[in-house]
Amino acid sequence: MTKSTNITWHHTSISKHDRRSQNGHGSCTLWFTGLSGSGKSTIANAVSYELFRQGINEYVLDGDNIRHGLNKDLGFSDYDRSENIRRIGEVAKLFVDSGKIVTTAFISPFRSDRDLVRSLFEEGEFIEVFIDCPLEECERRDPKQLYAKARRGEIKDFTGIDSPYEAPENPEITIQSGSVTVEEAVEQVLNYLRDKNIL
Ligand code: ADX
Repeated sequence: MTKSTNITWHHTSISKHDRRSQNGHGSCTLWFTGLSGSGKSTIANAVSYELFRQGINEYVLDGDNIRHGLNKDLGFSDYDRSENIRRIGEVAKLFVDSGKIVTTAFISPFRSDRDLVRSLFEEGEFIEVFIDCPLEECERRDPKQLYAKARRGEIKDFTGIDSPYEAPENPEITIQSGSVTVEEAVEQVLNYLRDKNIL
């Protein structure tokens, strides 16, 4: 594939800072990471609902949904997962530029991929939210019956079974989703945003 040449960055008249002041709040990425079934989508959705209710400009990018469209050409090999995360990182950056608080819910199992996304952002804009739930609990919940399929060998490269998950070392927020309620998890995220003057 030939890469594009002769392209220059076009500066728009309205900046991220203009959009933030019009909105009356900051913009950032809440990057949820965790095993399948850990509660990423549920908590991301609940956070977005509460932000919306408070009049905040927000959006959710969810793994299963994005894989129906933008990333439908990608599977679950290590390479495809990295490309999945790279594209989402770029999309999330556009959302932050547009002045929104964007919540992303992807397993994003590899530390290097998450760090690469972090490097796209300015200090404080990338908030890594580790949805920490033991594999045994995710497997017990098995909301989509995918762990059962993986154990039977019907799905290959399933995270936690025959594909690794690298937990964050220094996440901004850790949510023990096996022991807090969804409401408590939402409160934890909102408290962080208030504390950092994003809200
Ligand atoms: S990621 O690893 O590339 O970040 P992503 O979050 O987009 O994954 O997609 C994960 C979702 O795809 C899971 O919640 C699950 O529903 C589904 N899925 C299908 N096959 C796999 C697999 N091999 N490993 C993990 N999730 C899978």
